[in-house]
Amino acid sequence: MDVKAQIDRLRAELHRHNYLYYVQNQPKIGDQEFDVMMRQLQDLEREHPEFYDPNSPTQRVGSDLNHEFQQVVHKRLMLSLSNTYNKEEVREFYERVSEGLSGQEFQICCEMKFDGLSISLHYEHGRLVRAVTRGDGVQGDDVTENVKTIRSIPLILPEGLDYPEEFEIRGEVLMPWESFEALNRERELAEEPLFANPRNAASGTLKSKNSAVVAQRKLDAYLYYLLGEGIPGESHYDNLQKAREWGFKISPQMRLVSTLQEIYDYIDYWDQERKNLPVATDGIVLKVNSLAQQRSLGMTAKSPRWAIAYKFTAERQSTILREVTFQVGRTGAITPVANMDPVQLSGTVVRRATLNNEDFIRNLDLHLGDHVFVEKGGEIIPKIVDVDLDARDGQLGPRVEFITHCPECGTPLVRYEGEAAHYCPNDASCPPQLKGRIEHFISRKAMNIDSLGPETIAEYFRRGIVRDPADLYEIRRDQISGARGQKDKSASKILMGIQESTQVPFERVLYALGIRFVGEIAAKSLARNFKSIDALAQATKEQLLQVNGIGEVIAQSVVTWFQNPQNQWFVERLRSYGLQMELSEEELSEHTDRLAGQSIVISGVFAHHSRDEYKALIEKHGGKNVGSISGKTSFILAGENMGPSKLEKAQKLGIRIVGEDEFLSMIE
Ligand code: IVH
Repeated sequence: MDVKAQIDRLRAELHRHNYLYYVQNQPKIGDQEFDVMMRQLQDLEREHPEFYDPNSPTQRVGSDLNHEFQQVVHKRLMLSLSNTYNKEEVREFYERVSEGLSGQEFQICCEMKFDGLSISLHYEHGRLVRAVTRGDGVQGDDVTENVKTIRSIPLILPEGLDYPEEFEIRGEVLMPWESFEALNRERELAEEPLFANPRNAASGTLKSKNSAVVAQRKLDAYLYYLLGEGIPGESHYDNLQKAREWGFKISPQMRLVSTLQEIYDYIDYWDQERKNLPVATDGIVLKVNSLAQQRSLGMTAKSPRWAIAYKFTAERQSTILREVTFQVGRTGAITPVANMDPVQLSGTVVRRATLNNEDFIRNLDLHLGDHVFVEKGGEIIPKIVDVDLDARDGQLGPRVEFITHCPECGTPLVRYEGEAAHYCPNDASCPPQLKGRIEHFISRKAMNIDSLGPETIAEYFRRGIVRDPADLYEIRRDQISGARGQKDKSASKILMGIQESTQVPFERVLYALGIRFVGEIAAKSLARNFKSIDALAQATKEQLLQVNGIGEVIAQSVVTWFQNPQNQWFVERLRSYGLQMELSEEELSEHTDRLAGQSIVISGVFAHHSRDEYKALIEKHGGKNVGSISGKTSFILAGENMGPSKLEKAQKLGIRIVGEDEFLSMIE
């Protein structure tokens, strides 16, 4: 079989299995088989860049390269819906429609109102060509590269179906509860700020400048509105059935009804049942089904007259505040926690809620014994939203005061300028900070020592076997076998897991060190740019700032970390146990520093490689790709049709223009 045919076959197969898994929830092959095919395709595409296709299944993994979003004007305005909050207002809508249609019969399509962010997808000849956020309704951000990583959105539609040459389909990008909770658990461990709800998480993710981050975060999308010339059906409902046949994920909760009572029933049913859905919803959307009737009803300046949203009321409960406790995290940040009388909220019993920080407590003027309102709404972490002042009966409990000393080690707390949080500065011996660092070190994305877990770590810590992550590599079998409930077999497993972690690549070791603000992605960039821990330890703040994606805060944190003699000693110990402190030969052979310290602007279209490939090449060779021309630009990598304004600016600043071939010989 020739290579092109082989590539085509793999692409078609991968698209199909992707659809079966992410849209149909009916996988036909295992993950491993899928991965093997994906790797075959990646290899073939690497060897044959001439068959590059922006819609290949391989494009779903995203890229680490930062990109700016282009603003694009919507082809058709993206209106929003007007909201109603009770059945009375729904009845008014129903009557307005009936009057507007002069008493004709009509059907209403009832749907869930998904709580994410709206997206407009454009397809041409069955291929996704552009994805745009709502923005202000007139123009939005082009987030195509990020959207391509959402597995339930088809990149290519099957051939031979009746979709028009060109159409638009709109829907909602969401983060399912499960992904949201996993993400927040990870962020909690890394002491990164938590997302308040799946909508914020989805929106923050979709607007991330790094599509590799988007690919990891497991977004999903439901589509609910088909637009364009030549769409097949005469009604909204039929069109969405068609879209489902073409491969889009359409909500199975959609229902056609004809009476007001049926609308009420739908609302009542889903107000309860939505708690069992895998994604967040905040209401119901009602749409007149017939497109002809929609046209005849028309729209107001802001929203269509043929549709309306009914919003569920956020669940809020009142309970009594009994005690405030304070938690210490891995970086020493202190979180105040409200302990309350148990109360039922959105299907779970809530006893604890976060109080954020000192200012939050002050603003509420919180006292023990207060009746407080707790809300969950879209949020997973319950929060206290208010104090019921009417319930205070003259016998006010003591005012809640923020602590001045660490509840775990007694050290006086500090509050850095401009930050809302208090910290325990005793990072060298405050127990939860020490334990937290070990937990982070063994976590999946760091050293991935999955034979150990938080309970085992707590036990080893208590018994004095480990105090810092480096101690793990000194554990002896006799210290842990025969420990409470621990069989010899599991001791072997634990020791083997620890030993195996010495082969974990440098970039993950760097992440595992737990340098403040150095997340997974930053660790990767730093590893690739500096190549070894020694080079990184020597780097100045200015050199760090040269790296793509590294800003002031991270750079300062890295410099400070390596200046601390304790941390230097920690690195030396890890090195002595054989951990990877530099990039492997294999990784090194692909990287050079031929473009080190150079800021390069890419402009125009190219013959040999795509723009993204050139970006990757620049980074591989130690350069920095920047978006706009300034005095600091080293040179411009220019293809055909470089924009006239860029050309003019380059000439004015006297910046060298380098052609494609010259560039390739520079890095050869
Ligand atoms: S239809 C002209 N259907 O709610 C009709 N919107 O304020 C346009 N939404 O911006 C929207 N679920 O982000 C529609 N089933 C659904 C929806 C839905 C969620 C969002 C969408 C829109 C906002 C309305």
